[in-house]
Amino acid sequence: SRRYSITLLAGDGIGPEVISVAKNALQLAGSLEGIEFGFKEMPVGGAALDLTGVPLPEETLSAAKKSDAVLLGAIGGYKWDNNEKHLKPETGLLQLRAGLKVFANLRPASVLPQLVDASTLKKEVAEGVDLMVVRELTGGIYFGKPRGFGSNENGEEIGFNTEVYATYEIDRIARIAFETAQKRRGKLCSVDKANVLEATMHLMIASVQFLFGFPSTGSIFSVGHVFSFIGTHGYFKRGDVSISDTYRIPILLGYLRASMLWRKRVMAIASEYPDVELSHMYVDNAAMQLVRNPKQFDTIVTNNIFGDILSDEASMITGSIGMLPSASLGEAGPGLFEPIHGSAPDIAGQDKANPLATVLSAAMLLKYGLGEEKAAQRIETAVLDTLNRGFRTGDIYSESEGNKLVGCKEMGKELVKSIDPVVV
Ligand code: NAD
Ligand code: IPM
Ligand code: MN
Repeated sequence: SRRYSITLLAGDGIGPEVISVAKNALQLAGSLEGIEFGFKEMPVGGAALDLTGVPLPEETLSAAKKSDAVLLGAIGGYKWDNNEKHLKPETGLLQLRAGLKVFANLRPASVLPQLVDASTLKKEVAEGVDLMVVRELTGGIYFGKPRGFGSNENGEEIGFNTEVYATYEIDRIARIAFETAQKRRGKLCSVDKANVLEATMHLMIASVQFLFGFPSTGSIFSVGHVFSFIGTHGYFKRGDVSISDTYRIPILLGYLRASMLWRKRVMAIASEYPDVELSHMYVDNAAMQLVRNPKQFDTIVTNNIFGDILSDEASMITGSIGMLPSASLGEAGPGLFEPIHGSAPDIAGQDKANPLATVLSAAMLLKYGLGEEKAAQRIETAVLDTLNRGFRTGDIYSESEGNKLVGCKEMGKELVKSIDPVVV
């Protein structure tokens, strides 16, 4: 029989509740396919802070690196919200993603026929939605430097972060996205930042005008316009922030380039995938289009922060954030699998959490992490069967014939029955 080692990182809030259900599903679906799992539970997030004083203990990272795949519940909670940056549960999660070098985060969102009623969108808008957000996970504003706190000339406190992408980071996530689109419906929409790109164009045209002396007064492409844009973004006004002067120009250039470079590189990589239909959308429009007509999307590729936001938005089309799984993959080493939701402190410890996002993350672990498609299929089919039998946690419950409101544990029990009716 095949044997795999899995690191389980339950984390905080509803994390342990949903991980326990997903672990049972993995074990059972695996055993039916002749797979044996060795589980190792390690602390992360707030739980690790309380236990060891840091949000990602070295032992946790090294156990994760040594295993075949990592399944994470969620981290975070009120208790640690005011901790210093390096002592936040969220920092532990970012360190884990960076430590495992999992730069590609796949977040599928599809509307199951069983849950059309749970969507807040009209039936005809939600029905049939099947999209995939490919989120860059180890770069961008989450990791860019300089970052930190300081003060401005008025002695007022400031906080600053930098959006940075290197060519290789965009190229590799773009390739993953094109390959994902190839396996789906062959459509890729790259989402980037509208106003920044336009500013870049203004800047280019303005420089031409400046260099060649074209009349610019009154033109929307005037140099003044460019600098007022930069001014409104706080990046060129002297004395605006106390970031050192050596950083000022690199930040300006980096900021203007980051999004332009994103589009430029995605367009360059597109030539390797002529069979994929590529489009571009500005992120504000994408947020609107997602609720206007989500069926227009197949695969979306975007940066770290836009992917975070858009995937939460996409989750609600499907009925609940409690349904959406994710897979985070790197070039080598174990993948990290986690629901897209957080630790839900408002319902933690009340047996109300929907475990299906984590259960479906376990299915992604089998499929993308271990190549065990059949076992993955068993879990996915069981999720549909459990829903077909009417079982619903509060977040996806709607009053209709045959629907039964259940807690996290009962959902887990019903899921087990769906995976193998013999085991009860
Ligand atoms: P959240 O996703 O935890 O919760 C948002 C809302 O969705 C809440 O009302 C919650 O009850 C509900 N919800 C989430 N998951 C659910 C589930 N499985 N079943 C039913 N309802 C569910 O987001 P938040 O409230 O903004 O953040 C809470 C904490 O979680 C914060 O500390 C945040 O930093 C952290 N967080 C962690 C992760 C992660 O571990 N990957 C992701 C997001 C947020
Ligand atoms: C997510 C979460 C995390 C993120 C936080 C908790 C660091 O929101 O996994 O979507 O922003 O990536
Ligand atoms: Mn998020």
